[in-house]
Amino acid sequence: MKFQTFNHYTYLEDKHIYYLKQLENFVQKSSFLPHYHLYPKTGLMNDPNGLAYFNNQYHFFYQWFPFEPNHGMKHWGHAKSADLVHWEDKAIALIPNQEYEKNGCYSGNSIEKDGLLYLFYTANYKTPQGKIPKQAVCIMDKSGIIQKSEKNPIIDGAPEGMSGEIRDPFVFERDGSYYMLLGAKDEHDVGQLLLYTSQNLIDWGYQGIISLPIDKGYMLECPSLIQVEGKDVLIISPMGLEKEETRYQNQFSTVYLVGKLDLSDKVFYAEYSNEVDSGFDFYAPQAFYGKNNVPMMVAWFGCGEQELPSDKDMWKHGLTMPYELKLKQNHLTHFVVPELLEQFKQKQPFHNQKLSTESNSYHLAFEVSNHQDVMSIQFGSSRDYWKLQFNFKQNQICVDRSHLSLPVDVPNGEIRKTIGLNKNSYQVDVFIDNSFVEIFINEGRKSFAFRTFNMTTKHHDILFDWEAIGEIGYYQS
Ligand code: FRU
Repeated sequence: MKFQTFNHYTYLEDKHIYYLKQLENFVQKSSFLPHYHLYPKTGLMNDPNGLAYFNNQYHFFYQWFPFEPNHGMKHWGHAKSADLVHWEDKAIALIPNQEYEKNGCYSGNSIEKDGLLYLFYTANYKTPQGKIPKQAVCIMDKSGIIQKSEKNPIIDGAPEGMSGEIRDPFVFERDGSYYMLLGAKDEHDVGQLLLYTSQNLIDWGYQGIISLPIDKGYMLECPSLIQVEGKDVLIISPMGLEKEETRYQNQFSTVYLVGKLDLSDKVFYAEYSNEVDSGFDFYAPQAFYGKNNVPMMVAWFGCGEQELPSDKDMWKHGLTMPYELKLKQNHLTHFVVPELLEQFKQKQPFHNQKLSTESNSYHLAFEVSNHQDVMSIQFGSSRDYWKLQFNFKQNQICVDRSHLSLPVDVPNGEIRKTIGLNKNSYQVDVFIDNSFVEIFINEGRKSFAFRTFNMTTKHHDILFDWEAIGEIGYYQS
C-alpha cells in the first residue's frame, strides 16, 4: 500500500475516509494485533478519556491520531461495550475542527448529569508566544449524539503563577457541587494540581492549588480521583521524576496517593503513596466508576515517545485491560475485571518445567516459592525471549526484555525492577495478548504492563527454572 503523508495538524474530513479504510485493512494484516485489548484501527492511540458506564453501556474514549503511528493532531476515538468483552469501536467522537481547539482535542474525563454525559477535554491551542490553556466540554445524549458546547472554551487562560501548560480536566461531584482537577506546570517549572468549582458544569471558578506531599516533577498530567473502600485515591502522572533503582524508570511516571482530599484546605492528606505499575508501558490512567459503582481504572498501554516494531504496520499502542481497584493495607491494587477474567477458558493444570502454549493469548497462573535465591521464567523461544525474575535474596522482582530479537524502545532501558513484598512465595498471574503483556503479583499488589514483539507470534514456549505447578487458560470469546 502507498502511504500518504499528512501535515501534523490535519483533522479528519470526509475526503480522508477512503484512504483510512485502506489503511484499516492494512493494519489488520499486522502480526502483532491483540485479541482482548483495545488498539487503534489506524495510527496512534494514547490516553483513555471520558471513561463511563452510561445508559447500561461502557463508553471508552481515547486519544487518537488516525493518520500515522505518531503523536499528531489528537482526536477522540470511541469504543463501547455492554460487558467489557465485546467492543464496538465507533471510531470517531471528537474532531478538532474548531478554532479554539486548533491543535487537538486533548485528554479529559466525563460525568453524568440529568441523563446526559458531559465529556470534558483540553482544547489545545498554540500561539507563537506559547500555549493558551483552554478547557472545553461536549455533551453526549442517550442516542450517542455528541455536541460541543456553544460556551466553549469553558475555561480560557491560565491563573496567575501558572505557565500555559494546563490540561486534562477531571470532574467529580462532592456534597452537591462539581469540582475540576487540572494538571499544570507553574512559572517555576514545577508540577501543580489546580482546583476549580462549578454548580452547573459550564461556569467554573478557580479555587487555587491543591497541596500534594509528593515530588511533582516539572509537570503533572492526567489527574483522577476515586473513592476506594471509603478512602480517596488520587492517581496522577508526573513528568520528570528522578529515576530510582526500583521506581520511576520510565520517561514519565504514574503515582497514586491514598488518604483524604480536603477541598476547603486544598490539601491531599496522604497516608501512603507509590508508583502504580512497574512495567515499561503504563501511563496516564483514568479512574472511573463502572457498573454498580465499582471503582475501575484503564491506562494507556504506552508511555511518552517510543519506537515500536509495529510502527511499520501503521498502528501504535493501545489500552490496558479494564482493572478493578481495591485497597490492601492502604496499598492500591489493580487487577483484571471479573468479566474479562472469565473469558480464559479450558483451564489446563500443569506441573512441569516447560510449556508450549496453544495460542498467543492466554492467562498463566502459578505460585513461585523461594526454593532458590533467584527464580526465573522465560517466555518466547530459546533465542527470542523475555524474562520474569524473582530475586528473593534481594527482595526484588524484575522484567528483562533484552533477549528479544526485535528490540523495543532500547533508549529507555530494557530492564524494570520493583521491590518485592518480602514474602517467601507469590501468586503470579500473567496475561499475554500477543504483543501485550500484563503481570500481577498477589492480585495486583505489584504489576508490570509492557509490550514484547516475539518473532514467533502464534504461540510461545515457556521455560521455568524449576518444576512449576499452575494452570493455563486460553482466551476465547
Ligand atoms: C498524556 C498526555 C496528556 C494530553 C494528551 C495529549 O499522555 O500528554 O497530558 O492531554 O496526552 O494526547
